Amino acid sequence: MAEFLGKRPRPQGEARKTEWRKLKKERKEEKKKWRELKMIKKLEKQRAQEEAEKQKEEAEETQQQAKGRTYTLSVALPGSILNNAQSLELRTYLAGQIARACAIFCVDEIVVFDEEGEDVKSVEGEFVGIGKKGQASVQLARILQYLECPQYLRKAFFPKHQDLQFAGLLNPLDSPHHVRQEEVLEYREGIVLHRPTRPGRGSFVNCGMKKEVQIDKNLEPGLRVTVRLDQQQIPESKSLKGRVVSSQEPRTHAGLYWGYSVRLASCLSAVFAEGPFKDGYDLTIGTSERGEDLASVQLPNFNHAIVVFGGLQGLEASVEADPNLEVTDPSVLFDFYLNTCPGQGSRTIRTEEAILISLATLRPPIIAAGAPRPD
Ligand SMILES: C[S@@+](CC[C@H](N)C(=O)[O-])C[C@H]1O[C@@H](n2cnc3c(N)ncnc32)[C@H](O)[C@@H]1O
Repeated sequence: MAEFLGKRPRPQGEARKTEWRKLKKERKEEKKKWRELKMIKKLEKQRAQEEAEKQKEEAEETQQQAKGRTYTLSVALPGSILNNAQSLELRTYLAGQIARACAIFCVDEIVVFDEEGEDVKSVEGEFVGIGKKGQASVQLARILQYLECPQYLRKAFFPKHQDLQFAGLLNPLDSPHHVRQEEVLEYREGIVLHRPTRPGRGSFVNCGMKKEVQIDKNLEPGLRVTVRLDQQQIPESKSLKGRVVSSQEPRTHAGLYWGYSVRLASCLSAVFAEGPFKDGYDLTIGTSERGEDLASVQLPNFNHAIVVFGGLQGLEASVEADPNLEVTDPSVLFDFYLNTCPGQGSRTIRTEEAILISLATLRPPIIAAGAPRPD
């Protein structure tokens, strides 16, 4: 009948089943191959995306590093300068002037050294009154630290202290790391909060914003941290996401001035001997009216520069008070010993004035020389 109708004869019974199974198998294999191909394409696309993201991140990193500042600038001065001020209000104001001068000229470290045998290494301890031995350096360091700390963290890090009685009245540093609540900036200073977190999740940090920031690590509560906020945030989320970074990163990666650290040194020689850099300071500048005219020198490239100021009696007095130094002439201690205000119109320039004058005049040569030495 099939032949009669001109149609292909249909396989019958078993033969038909075998053919059907073969067809099914072929289709299954084809489907499998197609799925594999799809998977390969998906993986290739994913790999290409990952590669592109990596390249983008690397490009951004290089771009950021190009914006960064690799060198550091330190300033050292004796705490004894506070003893020239007659009241706690005046001492506080003097400390504030130093803090502002250092912030204006992007000083990364302030070293307060002792030239009166006070031998104090920390700002811990109680206030024992104006002019008492051991207080000037500690008090200066404490006020400098207080002013450097962003306002929203001060309550946590600076409990009430007599040294800080008038510090709240001082002019703020208003530097980039004192970020306002609504301001958008990649980096922020924060304090790790006492807050339980789920296992594998990082701590919560108060960075002075409406929302807290959940960081990538679990850290001890109460710690001050520098946080880099993730570029992508989930707007509906209760908290923001960020990573803990070195406090140097805002400077080295983004060229932002990120405040100064404060160090106490027990004498002038300890300023150099106890520095934070592995290879020490590679550009040291002493300042004096008896120094060489700044205009006649050319500063070499450097990584870590320090400019040292004397007190009421100049650096000669600091050298004399230092039990580790046998020299009498301070100029031999420095790479350069500079007069930054030749032809001064007052018999003496006060230390706080000398800091402003010297940093202003040294700024262009320091910026020019502040590049890493070629390897
Ligand atoms: C009150 S002055 C010291 C004056 C003191 N009679 C002396 O002979 O050095 C305090 C500090 O200010 C700085 N200073 C004063 N005049 C300066 C100048 N012309 N150039 C650079 N630094 C100066 C120095 O660091 C000095 O130790």
